[in-house]
Amino acid sequence: MLVKRTYLFRGIEVVNLSEVSEEGEGDEEKEYEHRATTRQDDERNEGHGSDYHNNDTDINLVTDVSYFDHEVILNMAQNYVGGGLDMKCAKTIIGTLADLTGSERVAWDDVCGLQDIKDTIEVDVILPWENPDYFKGLRAASKGILLYGPPGSGKTLIGKCLASQMKARFFNITASSLITKWAGEAERAVKTLFQIARAVQPTIIFIDEIDALLSNRSENEKQWERRVKTEFLTELDGCQSNSRDRVLFLGATNIPQSIDPAFVRRFATRLYVPLPKVDDREVMIKRIMSDTDHSLSKGDIQLIALETEGYSGSDLRTLCKWAAKFFLRNVPRSLAGKVLLPEIVPPVVLDDFQKGLKVVKRTVSQEVLDQLTAYHAAQR
Ligand SMILES: Nc1ncnc2c1ncn2[C@@H]1O[C@H](COP(=O)(O)OP(=O)(O)OP(=O)(O)O)[C@@H](O)[C@H]1O
Ligand SMILES: [Mg+2]
Repeated sequence: MLVKRTYLFRGIEVVNLSEVSEEGEGDEEKEYEHRATTRQDDERNEGHGSDYHNNDTDINLVTDVSYFDHEVILNMAQNYVGGGLDMKCAKTIIGTLADLTGSERVAWDDVCGLQDIKDTIEVDVILPWENPDYFKGLRAASKGILLYGPPGSGKTLIGKCLASQMKARFFNITASSLITKWAGEAERAVKTLFQIARAVQPTIIFIDEIDALLSNRSENEKQWERRVKTEFLTELDGCQSNSRDRVLFLGATNIPQSIDPAFVRRFATRLYVPLPKVDDREVMIKRIMSDTDHSLSKGDIQLIALETEGYSGSDLRTLCKWAAKFFLRNVPRSLAGKVLLPEIVPPVVLDDFQKGLKVVKRTVSQEVLDQLTAYHAAQR
């Protein structure tokens, strides 16, 4: 059956005719058409069809809870792999699935700044996944993305956002847990992880602290550590073979310089997630404060943004929380004995932030930043 998909890419209408088997694939094709049409309608209504991210906040979000149902996923994996699935490992791996339905979902607008990264991810993953007939060969989706940058700069947030938007299952694993939880079995866990990922795609395998797992090989490393690394290499290379698979291996690290170069090469896309610049900090503070009563003027927010040089997104959130709670921590004695009603809690003011700035300091040291920028410069 010939299926027509239309798709809007930066204001250009892309029409794609592709042959699909009548069995099984129909629903997915309808879903594609529906998503493409919804997006176009939204873009026309909103009147800014050339900006992909700004108007794509709520279209693809997952609302079906069965999407994260562990039993459903286990069944899918069993059907796909057959008797060879290691059930014990599979259950533990499925336990790492992040539920991105409801309030946990992340929209592109929730990720402030980082426009270059959003653009790269759009071209390297989103468009090829949505439209594999146009994006094949050299233009096929990246199978591996390495996000490196200082702590709290938004690496995990980007992963969750991509998964929310692509209706992808998001396996959120820290390398240290893989090492401690699975130790001797880690090799089997890695194999099972990729089997499940292929079975239930689209999938994002997100591994935080990837440096702990894929560090430079050394004389002292244990046998099983070596086997885990070999298994990763095999799986990553295996991923490259089917360009239509929608499985993304997303690694995040604060110390990319300690990753084995053989692994770094496997990440076709390597992105530096920097600390926010002053303009981004302004947007971020505004966004964080948007659901809290405050009397900050534009000028106040600009001032806070200027005074928070070197703060990460995470530091800014901590600062805003501190400022928002300042009054509550110091309820005046005159209110003793009275009921503390929301009405008598005053809006957050600039002074709350100025006090907060004395307590909440930047957490990323200059030394860490220098190492990261040096690594980044060497990549170019
Ligand atoms: N660019 C950003 N836009 C909006 N919020 C951000 C951004 N960066 C960080 N934050 C805030 O900081 C929190 C921590 O970010 P996140 O966990 O993504 O950082 P990270 O880079 O993964 O850090 P780590 O290296 O410690 O794992 C987020 O939940 C969010 O509240
Ligand atoms: Mg993180």
